[in-house]
Amino acid sequence: FQPKVLAGQHVLVTAGPTYEAMDPVRGITNLSSGKMGFSIARAAREAGAEVALVAGPVHLSTPRGVQRVDVRSALDMQAAVAKHIDAASVFVATAAVADWRVADVAGQKIKKDGSGQLPQLSFVENPDILAGVAQSARAKNGALYCVGFAAESHDLLKHATAKRERKGVPLLVGNIGPATFGLDDNALLLVDAQGHQELPHANKLTLARQLVGEIARRLKTV
Ligand code: C5P
Repeated sequence: FQPKVLAGQHVLVTAGPTYEAMDPVRGITNLSSGKMGFSIARAAREAGAEVALVAGPVHLSTPRGVQRVDVRSALDMQAAVAKHIDAASVFVATAAVADWRVADVAGQKIKKDGSGQLPQLSFVENPDILAGVAQSARAKNGALYCVGFAAESHDLLKHATAKRERKGVPLLVGNIGPATFGLDDNALLLVDAQGHQELPHANKLTLARQLVGEIARRLKTV
């Protein structure tokens, strides 16, 4: 038996990597598996919420009862989030969004011309989806609760605390252990205005269920 601690809530989750095209057949991505975000979507649904999941390119099946929207690039992800955010009361950003995209995506496959000349790529910064949502009026007046994630290689508490403030979110969750990408297990550090607490090493679904409980507890007090 699981209590329906998120009954009546609408949860929007981003998960997975983004893929930034260089040309029609090549692109830049990262090693995010999407497992943490998919587990959170599943746990939120189990807890009684309506759940929409905006997923970058991942190889995972959709949790039962969850509305999934597949996207590729950061700009696609931002557009999908914009479409679903008005219905949401909780936003959980787990996606590993690419910081940069290729400035001039070639319309045709970039050819190796045999001269040894190398292609030059230049980049532009992608929008920060979470920071944008956290600045919206509904987030500021408490109608939308935003949760961010952080993957850091060192000084997690210091960086997670700073990131929480920079992004303007009430709850920032740090991945403990530098390399959680692709793994089934993780440990989480929760940082909010009250301080910090650890969810010890466990599989990602167990952690997702605990995190959902922590989010529900905070919703009651905001
Ligand atoms: O700044 P950094 O990428 O470390 O922040 C991570 C958090 O911000 C995650 O919650 C991630 O989903 C979110 N993010 C985002 N859009 C970006 C970059 C990060 O929503 N362009």
